[in-house]
Amino acid sequence: MISDLPQDFIRQLTAEYGVSDAEFEALALALRSEPTVAIASTIGISEVAVRKRLGEVYRKFNITGIRPGKIAELKQFLISQYQARNRSTTNSRTDWGEAPDLGAFYGRIADLNLLKQWVNADSARLVAILGMTGCGKTSLSVQFAQQNQTQFDFVIWRSLRNSPSVTDLVTTLIEFISQQPAKNLPDDSNSQISLLLECLQAHRCLIVLDDFETLLQTEELAGYYRTGYEEYRELFQRVAEINHQSCLILISSEAPAELALLSVNSVKQLKPTGADIIAKEIFKEKGLSATPEEWQKLLNRYRDNLLAFKIVAITIKDFFNGHVSQFLEATALFVDDTLTYLLEQQFERLTSSEEDVMYWLAIIEQQIGIFQLKQQFFESLSLSEYLNNLDSLERRSLIEKTTTDSEIMLQLQPLIKKYVTQQLVQQVTQEVQQLLRQPNFSNFSVLKNYCLGKSCEKQQINTARQSSQLLQQLANNLQNKLRRSEGNIYDSLKQLGENLKKQPRLKVGYAGANLNDIISKIPSN
Ligand SMILES: Nc1ncnc2c1ncn2[C@@H]1O[C@H](COP(=O)(O)OP(=O)(O)OP(=O)(O)O)[C@@H](O)[C@H]1O
Ligand SMILES: [Mg+2]
Repeated sequence: MISDLPQDFIRQLTAEYGVSDAEFEALALALRSEPTVAIASTIGISEVAVRKRLGEVYRKFNITGIRPGKIAELKQFLISQYQARNRSTTNSRTDWGEAPDLGAFYGRIADLNLLKQWVNADSARLVAILGMTGCGKTSLSVQFAQQNQTQFDFVIWRSLRNSPSVTDLVTTLIEFISQQPAKNLPDDSNSQISLLLECLQAHRCLIVLDDFETLLQTEELAGYYRTGYEEYRELFQRVAEINHQSCLILISSEAPAELALLSVNSVKQLKPTGADIIAKEIFKEKGLSATPEEWQKLLNRYRDNLLAFKIVAITIKDFFNGHVSQFLEATALFVDDTLTYLLEQQFERLTSSEEDVMYWLAIIEQQIGIFQLKQQFFESLSLSEYLNNLDSLERRSLIEKTTTDSEIMLQLQPLIKKYVTQQLVQQVTQEVQQLLRQPNFSNFSVLKNYCLGKSCEKQQINTARQSSQLLQQLANNLQNKLRRSEGNIYDSLKQLGENLKKQPRLKVGYAGANLNDIISKIPSN
C-alpha cells in the first residue's frame, strides 16, 4: 500500500526524478487519492494548474500518453522502488571510489530513462557517455548509478585519472566482486580479464569508469591508447562481446577508436542532452533571471557547457549585481580561467594537423563546408588524413558538424572559438616579436600558414573571416607588447613587411600579407 511508504522516502525519490516542491505538494495529495477539485482548493490554485503540475510529474517518471490510471502506475512504481531499495540495503554492495558528491542535480530525465532502458531492458553490456569537458557526463553517471543501484548486486565507480594499468584495475574489480583478496591471479592480462568476465557472469554488476580519455594518446589522432594501455582495448572488446549479466559504463571526452567497430546491440553511446533546462535551473538557484532574448544569447555562447554556466552565474551574481544584461554587454565572450585551463588540457592533446583545423575554424567567421576548409590549408594534406583529423576532433567534442542537403559544414562552439582565437593572437604576437628581434624567416608558423585577413591569395574562396576583429585584436596586442621595446612600431612593422616580401613565397607563406593586414590597423604616427 502506498500509505505504508514513509513520506520522506517518497519525497527523496521524487526529488531524484526532478519533481519540484510545488509539484510534490499536488502529488502528495493525489497519492492519497484526493480528487483534483479538493487538491486545488487545499493548495489554493486552479484545477488546471493541479493537472499541469501532475502532468509534469508523470512526464518526469516517463509515464506518458493520454490514458487513465497514471496515478495508479506511479504508486506501483514507488512501491516497487521502496521494496527494491529496502532489499538492497542488505543485498547490493557499492564502492563509490572517487565519485563526486552530487549537489543539486537538475533535468536529464530523458537521458536517465534511456540509460535505464539500455541497461535493464536492452541488456547493454558497454555504454559510453561521451561529450566535451564540463557537459555533465560525470554527474549524469553518478545520478544514474545512485538511482539504479538496487538493480545490481555490485556497483563500483572508478576514475581512471591516475592511469591504472589493466591489471591493477581488473584486480580491484575482481576483489570487490568476489569480496576477497585476489590471490594467485594469473600473470597475463588476458587471463585476468577472463576471470573478471566470470564475475560479471555470476553477478549482476554495474562498473562505471570515468575520465577514460587519460588513457589515450596526446598529440595523436583521438581514440588511440597510450603505450602500455593497449590492453584496455581487449577489456572493452570482451566486455562488449561476451555474454554476461553486467554493464560497464565508460565516460570520456574522446571515444576510443574501437567503439565504432563494436556496433553490436550490446554497445550504446550517449551524449548528454537538455543542457538549457539545467542551465536555467543553475541560474534560478543563484537567484538570477534572464529574458528569453538574454537566454538565447547565453545559450549561443556557452551551449552545453554546464561548468561554464556555473562560473558565469557566479560571476553575474558577484560582479554584475545579478544583472544578466550588464554581464552580456560587458563581456563579448567571457572565458574564465578555469575554463581556459580545461581547454588548454584539451588543446595540448591535438596533433598539428588537428590544430590546423581548429585555427582555420577560428579565423573563419561562419560555418564552412569540409572541402572548402581543406582548400585553405597552406601545406597540402591527403583527403583521408584530413577526414581522419575531422573525425578525431569530433570525437574530442571540439568541432560541430552539421549536415545540409549538399554538404557537411563545420564550426567551433563560440567558447572554444574564443579560446582558439586567444591562442592565435598570442602566438602571432610572439612570432612577430621574434622576427623583429631576429629576422629568421624559417622560424615561424602561424603567421606563415594561416591567412588572417582579406588580402591573402586564396581570397577567391571568399570565406567570411572574422578578420577585422581579429586583426584589430592582433594590432592592439602588438602595440601593447612592443610599446617599450621598439621605437616606432608602425615603421618597424613596415620594414619587416618589406623584408618578408623579398622572401620566396614557399618559405614565408601568408606572412607578408598577414603583416600588411595587421599594419593597416595600426595608426602610422
Ligand atoms: N544535471 C545537472 N544539474 C546540476 N548541475 C550539473 C548537472 N550536470 C552537471 N552539473 C554541473 O556542471 C559541472 C560539470 O559537470 P561534470 O563534472 O559532470 O562534467 P563532465 O562532463 O564530467 O566534465 P569533465 O569532462 O571535465 O570531467 C559540475 O560543476 C556539475 O556539478
Ligand atoms: Mg567528468
